[in-house]
Amino acid sequence: YSLKLYNTFGIEAKAKYFAEVSTIQDLKKVLVFRRQNNLPILFIGGGSNLLFVDDFPGVVLKLNLKGIEIINENDNEVFVKTQGSENWHNFVLWTLENDFGGLENLSLIPGNVGTAPMQNIGAYGVEVKDYITEVQTLHLETGDERIFTNEECNFGYRESVFKNELRGQYVLVAVTFKLSKKNHTLHLDYGAIKTELEQENITEPTIQNISTAVIRIRESKLPDPSQIGNSGSFFKNPVVTIEEFAEIEKNYPTVSHFKTDAGVKLAAGWLIEQAGWKGKRFGDAGVHDKQALVLVNHGNATGREIYDLSEQIINDIKTKFGVTLTREVNIIK
Ligand code: EPU
Repeated sequence: YSLKLYNTFGIEAKAKYFAEVSTIQDLKKVLVFRRQNNLPILFIGGGSNLLFVDDFPGVVLKLNLKGIEIINENDNEVFVKTQGSENWHNFVLWTLENDFGGLENLSLIPGNVGTAPMQNIGAYGVEVKDYITEVQTLHLETGDERIFTNEECNFGYRESVFKNELRGQYVLVAVTFKLSKKNHTLHLDYGAIKTELEQENITEPTIQNISTAVIRIRESKLPDPSQIGNSGSFFKNPVVTIEEFAEIEKNYPTVSHFKTDAGVKLAAGWLIEQAGWKGKRFGDAGVHDKQALVLVNHGNATGREIYDLSEQIINDIKTKFGVTLTREVNIIK
């Protein structure tokens, strides 16, 4: 079964079995089938954060669980439970139509609501973890439902318990968000947002203005997966110690970076550009010409070709800067 239409990289890979389910009951049936046949299983949401390097020898399961529901509210806040298969950006637009604040900086991120907690999506100074109260899941072996509190999700920079300790054990069926109804806290620290708002002469931005600014910035830098296959940032921004940073800065005084509690975060896009990879193309596998952190499929690249390119970049950055890049995208092989 071809998976080409189910991954935003547009990679041609095959699954032994493919199932699409719209109810929890059907989902449980697929789980029984896969257990009885002792097959590996892979869930795909929007397919926006994975790279198929080989064919998948088991069941690929596409969930189709839809619905957005306000489950609680008070004067200041609203609690919204959203089913995992709702498209992320459509959900953000829904929050903005209702003037619910929190997710505006996360506009236009590809993927679905159910995959947002997996890698704790983030952009322009905001991470989704700060708005999630609970994640509803189903255990793959037992089919038991389990709710994870925010704390139990163990969120970190592009990380969660679902990508690490509990990898492949739970399917995320719905997410509950806590959003503001008034006196929204605006996140305007990110330079690019300020510049964009200034250009529009907006001095007192609304959450809707911020969303529009973010959409413009993203459209100018990041390739649209429907035009050119990609999975957003392919690598994470590496964090180095203060001492390591001092050493790098000696040789590269303009290195793009920002200080965090954990150390100094380097802009991987900057490192990759400096190393000469930006816009490079090898067959149909390439490095995006406007944001070097993004690898692209110009048409018929194989997952292996994209993976090999990423390996070469990692090795080159290690040699040139002494920094080890790690992949953000889930590699399926
Ligand atoms: N830079 C370069 N060359 C490049 C790319 C970036 O010099 O080719 C420099 C920029 O000039 C800037 C710095 O690197 O000084 C940071 O660039 P940018 O603002 O584009 O953000 P990023 O750190 O490269 C991260 C996220 C993105 C997110 C943006 C905006 C990660 C791995 N990526 O990228 O997330 O949209 O910040 O907040 O943290 C994603 O996860 O798929 C994603 C796109």
